[in-house]
Amino acid sequence: MRVFGIIGYPVGHSLSPAMHNAALRALGLEGVYGAFEVHPEDLPAAVAGIRALGIGGVSVTVPHKETILPYLDELDPVAREIGAVNTVLNLGDRLKGTNTDWLGVKRSLEEAGVELRGRKAVVIGAGGAARAVVYALRRMGAEVAIYNRTPERARRLARELGGRGYPLEEIGEASGELIVQTTSVGLESWESPVPEEIFSRFRVAMDIVYRPLRTRFLSQAEAAGCRVIDGLRMLVHQGAEQFRLFTGREAPVETMYQAALEVLEGGEKGR
Ligand code: ATR
Repeated sequence: MRVFGIIGYPVGHSLSPAMHNAALRALGLEGVYGAFEVHPEDLPAAVAGIRALGIGGVSVTVPHKETILPYLDELDPVAREIGAVNTVLNLGDRLKGTNTDWLGVKRSLEEAGVELRGRKAVVIGAGGAARAVVYALRRMGAEVAIYNRTPERARRLARELGGRGYPLEEIGEASGELIVQTTSVGLESWESPVPEEIFSRFRVAMDIVYRPLRTRFLSQAEAAGCRVIDGLRMLVHQGAEQFRLFTGREAPVETMYQAALEVLEGGEKGR
C-alpha cells in the first residue's frame, strides 16, 4: 500500500485528501492519501518522517511551501524559479521538490480557451500565491502587470519573475485580456480588493480563492460580462499533476473536481 498526504498547518479543511483518494479509487490503485498537520517547528522532523516511513510523496501547503526548501535533496528548475515547493516526491534515495501550482493556473486558463501570447494580464496581489500565477502567465507569453497594496512587493515580484509592478490604488487604469485575484481578500468574506467598474475592461476573470466558490470578485466580473474561472479549477489541476507525478498515471480530473466540490459544498451546508 502506498501512502501519500498533505502537510500544512492547519490542514483540517484541505480538499486534497478527498480529491486524491477519489482519484486512487477511480483508477483502482492501492494507496491512501492522508492529511498531516505539521506545526512549523516540526517541519524538519516531518521531512525525516517522509524518508523513514517511505511515504511516496506529499503535497505541501501553507505555511511550509518556502520553508521546506532547505530540507529537500533536490529542487527542479521550476520550483527554484518560483521559490516555492507544493509537491515532494520520494525517489527512494532522495526527496525532490517541485511545483505544480503554476500548471494548475495554466491548465485552468487553457481549458477556458484563454490565449495570452502578447496580451496583457493583470495580477492582484504579490504574496506567495501570486508567484505561481505570475510564472504561469509569463510562460503563456503574457505581458504581466502586478497590482499590490504594498507596491514594493509588486515591483520585487515583477523584477524576479517578469512584468511590471504598481500600487493597488492605480488599478482604475488597468485593462487587459485577463485579471487574476491572488490575495486573501474575499476568503470566507463578501469583499473584493478591486472596484466593480474595472471589469468592463477585461474579458476573463479568475480567482484563486474558492471559499466561497463564487467570490464577490467573480460575481462582479460575471455581471460585467467576463468569462469567470473559479479557484477550484486551479486547485484540481495542480492536484491532478501531483497525482500523475505520484502514481505515473493520468489523473481523472473531473472525478477529482467532483470530490472536492462535494466536500466544499458539504462544508458550506454544515456551517
Ligand atoms: P499568500 O501566500 O496566500 O499569497 P501572503 O504572502 O501573505 O499570502 O500575501 C497575501 C497577499 O494579499 C498580499 O499581496 C497582500 O498585500 P500586501 O503585500 O500589501 O500585504 C494581499 N492582501 C491581504 N490583505 C489585503 C487587503 N485587505 N487589501 C489588499 N490586499 C491585501
